[in-house]
Amino acid sequence: MRIAVVGTGHVGLVAAATLAEIGHRVVGTDADAERISLLSRGIAPFHEPGLDDLLRGTTESGRLSFTPDTGEAVSRAEVVFVCVGTPARSTGEANLIAVEKAVRAIAEYAIDGLVLVQKSTVPAGTAARVEQALRAQSRGRIRHIDVVSNPEFLREGRAIEDSLDPDRILVGSASARALRVMRAVYRPLIDKGCIYIETDVKTAELAKHASNAFLAMKISFANALAQICERAGADVMDVADIMGSDPRIGRAFLDAGLGYGGFCFPKDVQAFDRLAARLGYDFPLLREIARINDEAIDAAVDKLEDALWNLEDKRVTLLGLSFKPGTDDVRFSPALALARRLLAEGANVIGYDPQASSTAKEDLPELHVASDAYGAAAGAHAIVVCTEWPEFRALDLDLLCDAMANPLIVDGRNLFDPAAVTAAGFDYYPTGRPLRVQPSVAGNLDGFVA
Ligand code: UDX
Repeated sequence: MRIAVVGTGHVGLVAAATLAEIGHRVVGTDADAERISLLSRGIAPFHEPGLDDLLRGTTESGRLSFTPDTGEAVSRAEVVFVCVGTPARSTGEANLIAVEKAVRAIAEYAIDGLVLVQKSTVPAGTAARVEQALRAQSRGRIRHIDVVSNPEFLREGRAIEDSLDPDRILVGSASARALRVMRAVYRPLIDKGCIYIETDVKTAELAKHASNAFLAMKISFANALAQICERAGADVMDVADIMGSDPRIGRAFLDAGLGYGGFCFPKDVQAFDRLAARLGYDFPLLREIARINDEAIDAAVDKLEDALWNLEDKRVTLLGLSFKPGTDDVRFSPALALARRLLAEGANVIGYDPQASSTAKEDLPELHVASDAYGAAAGAHAIVVCTEWPEFRALDLDLLCDAMANPLIVDGRNLFDPAAVTAAGFDYYPTGRPLRVQPSVAGNLDGFVA
């Protein structure tokens, strides 16, 4: 099929490459001409494992191309995916101006019979407005047009595997024709056995809000639990394992730490709260999720103050700057939220990240960045583990300890083995765990069950 993808951010670019990989002819377009020029030269504008290879393969085969001209991309497409950004307004509501602009361009150039697929996360009810706007703006030129909601569930850092082998594909539409077209679009993935859900537009839109808010709620629950565990002397990782062994709960997204960041959860939880309010329902649980998430940063600052007394003129090293491992994305990164707090307290903050040092520096120029973890730790009074990059587990703890002025680790991701770091001479503050290693409750349980 001939497909256009409007917006080449994380969602759009990965969708374009995936759709080309599964056999469609795809043209990607973006308002950012510089980005299109990079992409046309085969350069991915952000780090995503596997993306470079996928882009190379699909562009070389001729199935994927890019143009800055939306009209050119849209005018030949049977299906147009709208994947533009929907950032938060100051009120917390989603800003839909990029969606509106995309719809205007599509209305001008679309062919009759087009299926418009709304992939950006938008408030429930947006697809209906898009359809109205398309009909009004095309001034009768287009007789048949259908709008579909197809929310994206991919995770950054695993975007390619999530797209080529998704847990589920969700498609919402009232039109039997559009549902048929979407089945044809996703046929290769459906044939591989992927769960494929068809529903109405509003249910699809709300399912996306509900899924992201629920996942964020699990993380905030784990972070509140970590606070209780620290006070009670229990281990949040063992409690989470035990909770997770109940299939009704599940272990995923119960890792306590510095909290959630990224371009989705913070803005989506807020946007869902505003949507609920607009629909006349007060949903304070959503605001609590966000409040507990902010509290995770306070907890790390409290530990540093507990250990170092004053933070002014102290040198604090942040290991990991991206909002999670596997990406160079620092948008709403808890590491940078912590860096800002520490800078405001007068600390010198130096960070290291395997991928995100330069994006972090762009976002926060006052941050110093080092080219490796040992360099970042040199002369430091404390290390805070902000992102659980697997390579940090392989650090030589003796070398790290020797490099520091004061050997202290605040482990905001429970990355290190407490026994190993304390044996290397560190003062160690994990998150929601007792300082000394206790025989693992979950381990005992395993033994008992066996
Ligand atoms: C999320 C959703 O998972 C995805 O389905 C949706 O399409 C977009 O938003 P993403 O933002 O890429 O994906 O990252 P995700 O892996 O979900 O992690 C989000 C944040 O939660 C990260 O900052 C991560 O560190 C944090 N997190 C995750 C925790 O703090 N604890 C956990 O147990 C899991």
